[in-house]
Amino acid sequence: MKSIGIDLGTANTIVYLKGRGIVLREPSVVAIDQRGRHVVAVGSEAKLMLGKTPGSISALRPLKNGVIAEFDATAAMHRHFFKKVSGNTLMSRPKVIICIPYGVTEVEKRAVEDVTLEAGAQSVALIEEPVAAAIGSGLRVEDARGSMIVDIGGGTTEVAVLSLGGIVLSTSLRTAGDELDEAISSYIKRKYNVLIGDVTAEALKKRIGSVHPSFDKGTMEVRGRNLMNGLPAIINVTSAEIRESMADEIRSIIESIRVTLENTPPELSSDIYDSGIVLSGGGALLPGLDLLVSRITGIRTVVAKNPLDCVAIGIGRVIESVGELSGVVNFRGR
Ligand SMILES: Nc1ncnc2c1ncn2[C@@H]1O[C@H](COP(=O)(O)OP(=O)(O)O)[C@@H](O)[C@H]1O
Ligand SMILES: [Mg+2]
Repeated sequence: MKSIGIDLGTANTIVYLKGRGIVLREPSVVAIDQRGRHVVAVGSEAKLMLGKTPGSISALRPLKNGVIAEFDATAAMHRHFFKKVSGNTLMSRPKVIICIPYGVTEVEKRAVEDVTLEAGAQSVALIEEPVAAAIGSGLRVEDARGSMIVDIGGGTTEVAVLSLGGIVLSTSLRTAGDELDEAISSYIKRKYNVLIGDVTAEALKKRIGSVHPSFDKGTMEVRGRNLMNGLPAIINVTSAEIRESMADEIRSIIESIRVTLENTPPELSSDIYDSGIVLSGGGALLPGLDLLVSRITGIRTVVAKNPLDCVAIGIGRVIESVGELSGVVNFRGR
């Protein structure tokens, strides 16, 4: 029996195929022709169109704010990726385990399951993101030993304390990668009167962003539009400016970790004190974040080995380990 794992993230979709590993990594973006309501492009191809489409086509991120903002587009994108993977493996109807963002409603969960079944899956199960991320980063979640995982994705940051394969408590906040990008854009607008696009803001964050001066990486030249005269503008942005622009958001992420620790039952917090905090998701790649978290909480903090792939790797481990981790998912078939 073939099994597929899908991490339907707000920024990236990653697919794991049983026995093969990760077979697809694409941005969660879809371009739609508004006249015929049909899909023009999906994934990387659609991401190149963000902010550049003519009136009739819209390139959008259907899961933008940690929830499914555009259900039909999400379904179309999901169906496209699923078919792409299941189509070229000559498999009969696969079993699918999907991880969807935390803020998704019961109705939306049900709808994602329906799309998956409709696209040809034999059965479908959902897995909670912190659980998948923790398994993927090598934490032994089945143990009666508390651990903490902080997943900083595109739309949400999830702070979770896990024990015995389940979530004991968790905090979810909208401050994550996208809000960092927005903070960078508004800082540049305020300081230089220049408007930059989302893609440019994200590039600044990834290329020269950090949370501590010792990780500063010089400057980066970016283009935008001058708001005073409407003309194209070129500015040089420094690492220090990016750090300053993201400071409030970084502070709220760390504050939510602190508050979660404060609400953790004492037996579990002493486990976490021993085992440390693990950071996953793309946001964990911000240089210096682990050190900052560790300095503020007093708990050793590490970045997971492949933060962007963690969730998919975690689902993969569930798929490969017949039985052993079966308690974390519940299949629904038809
Ligand atoms: N090197 C990096 N430094 C900082 N942020 C990064 C880096 N690489 C990716 N990101 C950010 O991580 C986020 C995507 O992470 P991901 O875990 O794939 O999100 P999701 O699970 O929501 O799809 C995006 O906001 C992206 O800009
Ligand atoms: Mg994710």
